[in-house]
Amino acid sequence: MGLRTIIVLAALMGSGSLAATIRPETASADIPGHPGVVNDTAEGAGQKEELPLEELEEDVMATGELNPTHFPAQRAAKVVQHYLNTRYGSPYKLFGLEKVYSGNAEDVEGSGRRYQLEVSVHEIINNATQKCSAEVFFPLGEKSLSPQVQASSLEELLKKSTAVEEEALFQKYKLNQSLLSAHNLPDSHGHIEPDMEPFWHLGTVASSFVMLKESTESTLYNMAQVANITQQPTEDDQLKFDCHTLLHDMVSQEILHWKLLFTWSPAGGVKVLQMEQLPNCQRCEKPQNTL
Ligand SMILES: *[C@@H]1O[C@H](CO)[C@@H](O)[C@H](O)[C@H]1NC(C)=O
Ligand SMILES: *[C@@H]1O[C@H](CO)[C@@H](O)[C@H](O)[C@H]1NC(C)=O
Ligand SMILES: *[C@@H]1O[C@H](CO)[C@@H](O)[C@H](O)[C@H]1NC(C)=O
Ligand SMILES: *[C@@H]1O[C@H](CO)[C@@H](O)[C@H](O)[C@H]1NC(C)=O
Repeated sequence: MGLRTIIVLAALMGSGSLAATIRPETASADIPGHPGVVNDTAEGAGQKEELPLEELEEDVMATGELNPTHFPAQRAAKVVQHYLNTRYGSPYKLFGLEKVYSGNAEDVEGSGRRYQLEVSVHEIINNATQKCSAEVFFPLGEKSLSPQVQASSLEELLKKSTAVEEEALFQKYKLNQSLLSAHNLPDSHGHIEPDMEPFWHLGTVASSFVMLKESTESTLYNMAQVANITQQPTEDDQLKFDCHTLLHDMVSQEILHWKLLFTWSPAGGVKVLQMEQLPNCQRCEKPQNTL
């Protein structure tokens, strides 16, 4: 089916901002009343990343030198962003893709496809940017195999220590008798209370584990919203969260619901214990006899 939709991708991971402006050319591309898709003049939108206006198609797998502004290179580069979040993300470190300078794709005989990329990566919270060479390998066959990523060293980007903030946050929520519970990060105006920003970042980092695992050459996942996040009691030296998160697949224009259980501590970082995709409820309400 010729899903041809002009989209403008804006923003994602600006702290406090979520702004994806979607201009559907087909009714099916609409996302009815979705809270995560908001007015992009909302607060914090200054930090957004922008991808160029792009024509999205179900395309053949491009090989060789890629146009860095086109989807094949952008999709592979997005995987690098999710990888960096899983590796280095924290309540005070969150990564975004700033720009793709070049990309090259090749078939690896019988095993998959390899992308070689030159990108610049943005650490959003401390506003640091660095160029990076990365390789993304998509294994062939089984869908359960996640892409493998390697990236050059990111000293500039990781230079600023956030240990003090992390320890303070950890102590605050570890010692408090009542457990944190928050929902709609950000709200429908793109707003997040300053106290809740670290939990939006944590939910985003945890979601990157899902987006990394689920990514293929034909996906482009963005974080949409932390629908709710609830702290769980723990005995050990970490914080534990139950989190319902909404991801936006820019290719199918679907909002995907995932339930995650994850832990975080300054020493151990974010660890996802469980991830489960929930049914898309618009679909499950459809009468059974519609195809
Ligand atoms: C977008 O958000 C801003 C700030 O919250 C508000 O002033 C403006 O009226 C909104 N625009 C639309 C079209 O909703
Ligand atoms: C982030 O850093 C860039 C480059 O150093 C600078 O131009 C920009 O104004 C900074 N943005 C913020 C929000 O501080
Ligand atoms: C403990 O949690 C409650 C409820 O979330 C909050 O009102 C209170 O300010 C917190 N106390 C501290 C010391 O952070
Ligand atoms: C979390 O958000 C989802 C999606 O909006 C909702 O279906 C679910 O009931 C919420 N869960 C809690 C515990 O609030």
